[in-house]
Amino acid sequence: MNILGISGSLRAASFNTALLHAAQELAPAGMSITIHRLHDLPLFNQDVEEQGDPESVVVLKQAIDQADGVLLACPEYNGGITGVLKNAIDWVSRPGRDRKTAALAGKLVCIAGASPGITGTVRAQDQLRLILRRAGAQTEPQGEVLVFQAHTKIVDGQLTDERTRDALARHLQGYATRLAALRG
Ligand code: FNR
Repeated sequence: MNILGISGSLRAASFNTALLHAAQELAPAGMSITIHRLHDLPLFNQDVEEQGDPESVVVLKQAIDQADGVLLACPEYNGGITGVLKNAIDWVSRPGRDRKTAALAGKLVCIAGASPGITGTVRAQDQLRLILRRAGAQTEPQGEVLVFQAHTKIVDGQLTDERTRDALARHLQGYATRLAALRG
């Protein structure tokens, strides 16, 4: 089971990127998570899309195609998802000039998020589910991983809080079970 991990933060010391690294360690047997960086993705522009996807967009779409699922680590900015993540979703929610289907269509997406605040990205995650549904993706599992007060649980890029590690491991296990059920 190959999962593509994407962080909605470009920050070098991002808590959300750290969460993806923790997910790599805590993934259940048979699941491997590859992190895809969004640093090279241009801002979505429909004129550019009509000319053909830029290389970084082609690469992202292919990476999603080749993955069994996508894990999104979702920061919260001003009560919603980051522009970085929304921009990436906008690109992959459409086929573009050279494809018939959108890379994201039908994909089962797993969400987690971390924030130094006390709500742990719950508003951004709710918004992300709506956006993904609009884009034709599905979200699973039902439970949430809301890493609140992330600065106390992620230290030097390592998820150190045992309860959060357990919650993330259970979340990934639930996701693996759902992916396996979909495969039949
Ligand atoms: C934030 N932050 C923030 N946090 C939160 O819990 N709810 C929010 O609405 C916001 N809003 C917000 C807006 C902007 C513009 C910034 C830059 C930050 C704080 C945010 O959670 C914090 O910067 C995290 O560290 C961002 O995630 P990464 O980069 O650590 O993954």
